[in-house]
Amino acid sequence: MRAHPAGPRHGDVSHPVGAPPQPHSTEASLELDRQIWPQTAFRAAESGSIVLGGCDVRDLVTQYGSPVLAMDEADVRARMSGYREAFDDPASPAHVYYAGKAFLSTRFARWVGEEGLRIDVCSAGELACALRAGICGEQLLMHGNNKSMDDLEAALSAGVGYIVVDSFEEIARLGFLAERDGVRPRVLIRVTLGVEAHTHEFIATAHEDQKFGFSLATGDAAEAIRRVLALQDRLELAGLHSHIGSQIFVSSGFEVAAARIVGLLADVRDEHGVELPLLNLGGGLGIKYVSADEPPDVAQMAEVLREIVARQCANLGLAIPELAFEPGRAIVGPSTITVYTVGTVKPIALDAGGVRTYVSVDGGMSDNIRTALYDAEYTVTLASRVSTAELTLCRVVGKHCESGDIVVNDCWLPGDLTAGDLLAVAATGAYNRSMASNYNLIPRPPVIAVRDGESQVLIRRETLNDLFATDVG
Ligand SMILES: Cc1ncc(COP(=O)(O)O)c(C=O)c1O
Repeated sequence: MRAHPAGPRHGDVSHPVGAPPQPHSTEASLELDRQIWPQTAFRAAESGSIVLGGCDVRDLVTQYGSPVLAMDEADVRARMSGYREAFDDPASPAHVYYAGKAFLSTRFARWVGEEGLRIDVCSAGELACALRAGICGEQLLMHGNNKSMDDLEAALSAGVGYIVVDSFEEIARLGFLAERDGVRPRVLIRVTLGVEAHTHEFIATAHEDQKFGFSLATGDAAEAIRRVLALQDRLELAGLHSHIGSQIFVSSGFEVAAARIVGLLADVRDEHGVELPLLNLGGGLGIKYVSADEPPDVAQMAEVLREIVARQCANLGLAIPELAFEPGRAIVGPSTITVYTVGTVKPIALDAGGVRTYVSVDGGMSDNIRTALYDAEYTVTLASRVSTAELTLCRVVGKHCESGDIVVNDCWLPGDLTAGDLLAVAATGAYNRSMASNYNLIPRPPVIAVRDGESQVLIRRETLNDLFATDVG
């Protein structure tokens, strides 16, 4: 069974893949959809090549090699500050934690801090990266469904603002470490609400069959709250957390989730006589990968989420808690493009008639696993020249020894595509480089930030020496 494009836990909502509608002309196919491509991207009129942050992608490939991930710094900074402004309303303050799993590097983490966001980390590695960037521990929140003693010790010694506990074992481990070290960390309980939301759909059920959090339906969440409160000399229970899915376009899933989690806040008040001050509603806001996607307006979504919580709290006689959100994809996803060089072009006759042209590029599943993992869809375009050739149905594939090594399943590209042409894939900022691997011992590509005609390296290209740095020979 295929996984849902939004996440591996959603195997039951498979994503139909088929050829997108054929653009009515080659010229139309070369236009850049403003909502899919980074804010500063445009196609130069004369050369036809794509310019991002004032840098021609052909020059980036000459300077940094191919493939290359190019990140529009102005775009990503605007989204960071835009999310902060949208969610952190003066009337009801909220904190926005950038979800570092989407993409993290030391300089990038600094930008997050400069734009007034906090960071959600989910491993000792992501924590170390944020600290290396000079982000103070108080600005961090730590996730993870199986945090080791080492992870928890790292979180405590960094003084992270919140630890989101995810299992009974973790509560016991954390209680032990807190007593040993004489600290009292602030804790959120991750609650599984029986709500899964993706794109236009959401499913609300009583039971959960996945690894994250404490189930509301089985009573595990209530028990976790009891256990943390029983250790309150060592652990400070600050609030509740939920994350209902990814690539969400509508607020209906949040509505059900908010009703359930605010209900739990009321249960805590009734059973224990405490009103927990913080509610973290996770991340998951969607972005536009292909023209059929319709992501929500950020400010409107923030407003809707605030209203939903306020209404539920009013119904139950609770003070509105401080809110927190954890967007990842929506901040970094649209800012980045991956530029590949075409190596081979192979027309293949299809059993059903017609031809599909396999266009092999110099990267693939090692820099973008999402297509193979989730049948994710992407928009791709010829990036280095103009063409008036007729469009042909193509599949953009990588160079790995795996037939599922597909970058873009079905797309329309000019029929004169040839070795040496550059292709650009849009919206590759989130869960591409951060999920990259060294499959086939291929060095991972660099991430280059571009702005006002200047480029700077965020992560350099790996070398063969990097690959062998851990191979003891
Ligand atoms: C707990 C939690 N918060 C935030 C996120 C970020 O989600 P997104 O990148 O879809 O906004 C995730 C993604 O898996 C998550 O698990």
